[in-house]
Amino acid sequence: MSSDLIFHQLFEKESSTYTYLIGDPKTGEAIIIDPVLEMVERDYKLIEELDLKLKYILETHVHADHITGSGELRKKTGAKIAINESYQLSCPDIGLVDGQELKFGNINITAFSTPGHTNGCMTYKIDEMIFTGDVLLIRGCGRTDFQDGSSENLFASVREKLFNLSDNVLVYPAHDYNGLTHSSIGMEKKFNPRLNLSVNKAEFQKIMSELKLANPQKIEIAVPANLQCGLV
Ligand SMILES: [Fe+2]
Repeated sequence: MSSDLIFHQLFEKESSTYTYLIGDPKTGEAIIIDPVLEMVERDYKLIEELDLKLKYILETHVHADHITGSGELRKKTGAKIAINESYQLSCPDIGLVDGQELKFGNINITAFSTPGHTNGCMTYKIDEMIFTGDVLLIRGCGRTDFQDGSSENLFASVREKLFNLSDNVLVYPAHDYNGLTHSSIGMEKKFNPRLNLSVNKAEFQKIMSELKLANPQKIEIAVPANLQCGLV
């Protein structure tokens, strides 16, 4: 993590979701990535305490396991909501495309399209950190069996895009279920059981097809709510 940034990794217990509040200390402009509805008051209080001006609310994807806090946070702060334009949602302010750049203060964000967990998943890069949503998790990856997920696309997103970044780039995912906070491209290339460099595409697709996971408990509520920025 760069010492030139205000950086808070925030956690929501029920869905084990990480939210990231990142600010430019020189200008006070800030962004938040993947806020959770139930934690909006906590996040807003922190933004106020740090005297930050929230400029963007970035979603890595339309979540199925929790309701986003993006709409509520926009009401409180006036920040603009950004998500991949491919979802064709009407509530966000900005529809992002692959390679698009945004700026807060003097800090650049690059949005990379990394489909696979959902078709509209994006990874955000700031300095030598990437925020991978559910595409690349610590020693794992998101499921690929709903919301137009595709194990073939996820394999390509990770192996051909993310793993082309330098080994010391830090990986900050949207979830961790084991208490880990971050990883690096170099570590995931070696230690990710599904996606390390010795696993080929056919093997990865077999692993994903055999997971047979139950649907997330909140999917019936969360996805429709998240199509409207959580404003239901
Ligand atoms: Fe997800």
